[in-house]
Amino acid sequence: MDRKRHWEDVYASKAVHETSWHQAEPAPSLALIRHAAGKRKPSLIDVGGGASRLVDCLLDEGFPDLAVLDISGQALDQARLRLGRRASRVEWVESDVTQFEPGRTYEIWHDRAAFHFLTEAEDRRRYVDVLLRTLAEGGHVIIAAFAPDGPQKCSGLDIVRYDARALGAELGPRFVLDEERYEVHLTPAGREQRFGFHRFHKAA
Ligand SMILES: C[S@@+](CC[C@H](N)C(=O)[O-])C[C@H]1O[C@@H](n2cnc3c(N)ncnc32)[C@H](O)[C@@H]1O
Repeated sequence: MDRKRHWEDVYASKAVHETSWHQAEPAPSLALIRHAAGKRKPSLIDVGGGASRLVDCLLDEGFPDLAVLDISGQALDQARLRLGRRASRVEWVESDVTQFEPGRTYEIWHDRAAFHFLTEAEDRRRYVDVLLRTLAEGGHVIIAAFAPDGPQKCSGLDIVRYDARALGAELGPRFVLDEERYEVHLTPAGREQRFGFHRFHKAA
């Protein structure tokens, strides 16, 4: 099935707070981003950010240079609508991440539950190629994916589950693991989803 059509249909047919991945506050992502940022407020791109509230929280914390990329224009419209005037402070990119042509670099790449949909090796290779071109030297990549004991599907689609070793093998030798966290996400329907959150830096 066409990837874009799937996601446009999802966001057209469900309210954001009804989606299984919804979080009122993306606490684990914020913790890892703060660890990557230290005392600075580095540039950040949220890949597969959808209509997540992460961007709202980062604006609240004073991050001045934010981008959200998603394959679904509907998702980005919903995020922009929620943010109102603040939406103009964010760069919005409607693109399949595997086809993204970055015109610049970012210091943090964040992805919660987008990479795990790439079940084909060729798509994962393209993702890593885009990541290598988009992430600044010394920058951090934060990827959250279903853990080995997590669900086998997300949004009705097959996914790949990862631990830190498997994810590191996909990203390749330029990425050095700094942090991993195991998190149990409770869906709005009350089901548990086991996630791994991973932070790597891009070595010289
Ligand atoms: C499970 S949702 C997670 C959304 C958000 N990261 C969060 O944590 O709330 C997956 C998101 O990835 C987006 N997505 C899926 N495949 C993608 C791709 N190949 N390129 C860009 N975005 C994609 C979907 O549109 C959706 O918004």
